[in-house]
Amino acid sequence: PWDESRASEIIVAHVSLEGAALPILHALQEEFGYIPEEAVPLVASALNISRAEVHGIVTFYHDFRREPAGRHILKLCRAEACQSMGGPRMARDFLSRLGISWGETTADRALTIESVYCLGLCACAPSAMYDGEPLGRLTPDKLDALAREARE
Ligand code: FES
Repeated sequence: PWDESRASEIIVAHVSLEGAALPILHALQEEFGYIPEEAVPLVASALNISRAEVHGIVTFYHDFRREPAGRHILKLCRAEACQSMGGPRMARDFLSRLGISWGETTADRALTIESVYCLGLCACAPSAMYDGEPLGRLTPDKLDALAREARE
């Protein structure tokens, strides 16, 4: 849950670092699991930048979540080797079967799908990471099985 004084402590602890915005946002995401909207004005005033600039940073970096993740997180690789093995088409079809877009969570909060750009598993592309476990040679069936598992 959102805790303003905890967020302020985190900001104070990192604000004097060089390029403090990223370390602050990473630490906030570590604490809360995402970047709560309420944190944006605090970060903006600590860094003396506008809220729009903070939003810009959060949106630019794929690592930052703008809402809490689901119970499981599947990161699908969208970099070159995985692209050449049909990853993007498979991902698009999978997202449409789930009825969500990149970065979103299924309505039952079971599964969040995020992008990642190369997991170092190019030899077994298309690749993914499911709750921190590397997965290779993905197929539509494997993805559907994961989605079922996530919902159990
Ligand atoms: Fe996907 Fe390297 S390009 S794992």
